[in-house]
Amino acid sequence: MKNLSDIKETAIQAIRDCKNNADLNQLRVLYVGKKGEIQEVMKAMKDMSKEDRPAFGALVNEVKKEISALLEERKCVLEEKELAVKLEEEKLDITLSGYRPHLGNIHPLMLVQQELEDVFVGLGYSVAEGPEVECDLYNFERANIPKDHPARDMQDTFFINVEELLRTHTTAVQMRQLEQSQKEGKEIIKVICPGKVYRRDDDDATHSHQFMQCEGLVVGENIRLSDLKGTLLFMARKMFGENRIIRFRPSYFQFTEPSVEVDVSCHICGGKGCHVCKGSGWIEVLGAGMVHPNVLRMAGFDPKKLSGFAFGVGMERIAMLKYGIDDIRAFYTNDLRFLKAFNRFE
Ligand code: DAH
Repeated sequence: MKNLSDIKETAIQAIRDCKNNADLNQLRVLYVGKKGEIQEVMKAMKDMSKEDRPAFGALVNEVKKEISALLEERKCVLEEKELAVKLEEEKLDITLSGYRPHLGNIHPLMLVQQELEDVFVGLGYSVAEGPEVECDLYNFERANIPKDHPARDMQDTFFINVEELLRTHTTAVQMRQLEQSQKEGKEIIKVICPGKVYRRDDDDATHSHQFMQCEGLVVGENIRLSDLKGTLLFMARKMFGENRIIRFRPSYFQFTEPSVEVDVSCHICGGKGCHVCKGSGWIEVLGAGMVHPNVLRMAGFDPKKLSGFAFGVGMERIAMLKYGIDDIRAFYTNDLRFLKAFNRFE
């Protein structure tokens, strides 16, 4: 029969070396199980004297307790290790990035249009549209440009037939708005008309056969040039920054009298002169003027009672200035690298 201290020593060693819970269970059976080595030692009690039995029993129990405690301790260690291995194996990396849906973005010209609409709707204007295939009547005649007028040469376009053409400016929508408002008996008009326009042109960095304009029109009693100036100054500051100033230069349009060309102080150099404003400190942004009496008359209004101002902005020009774009063709060639530069979601 094995001696108790040998059993204790080999048990301690075996438990320490044990690497997994299954083996540990076998050790448990081997040492402290019902038919285990400790139990075997207990059997020796029956051959002992009555006096020796309690002390021996106590000693064996002590060893049994010690081994049991060690088994329990090792069990916890091994379970923890096994859990750690399991967690490592079953690790779910929830930080893995998901699939982002591809979001499109708004075209830079639309951004400018939306911004202009915000500015003018905020001033109480409404937004109107008109057809891109337009009648000669609204595109030219009503704009005080009769059939034989030389100004037509500057706005050559694609004619569908003698009377219909691709509109050359949003001024055509202005003429429609005047006529409609007169029919409806309105005496106050405040409207902007954004949209695409077309002209025969040789495309280059600053010319495109298709481009966008935004027309503005205000008609009412006692509308003056100073109203136009205040309105355009407000717009310039909203579009190009609070410190902008504007200046009017005399110009000529058939549908306005007087007519002006409007410059905004350069938003890059603040007016000192730089490559964007070509050293002048000013940037030409739009044409404007007081609605010509002939135009009011042709729409059925009495120019003695009512007056108005109008303006026409090139949206590409605004976008090019705002976003630093140097070739107008970029807006129309659909290069995704260019368009994605305006994606606010990526
Ligand atoms: N229609 C002009 C053009 O295309 C722009 C313009 C100038 C519009 C003056 C206006 C205006 O309404 O008053 O060149």
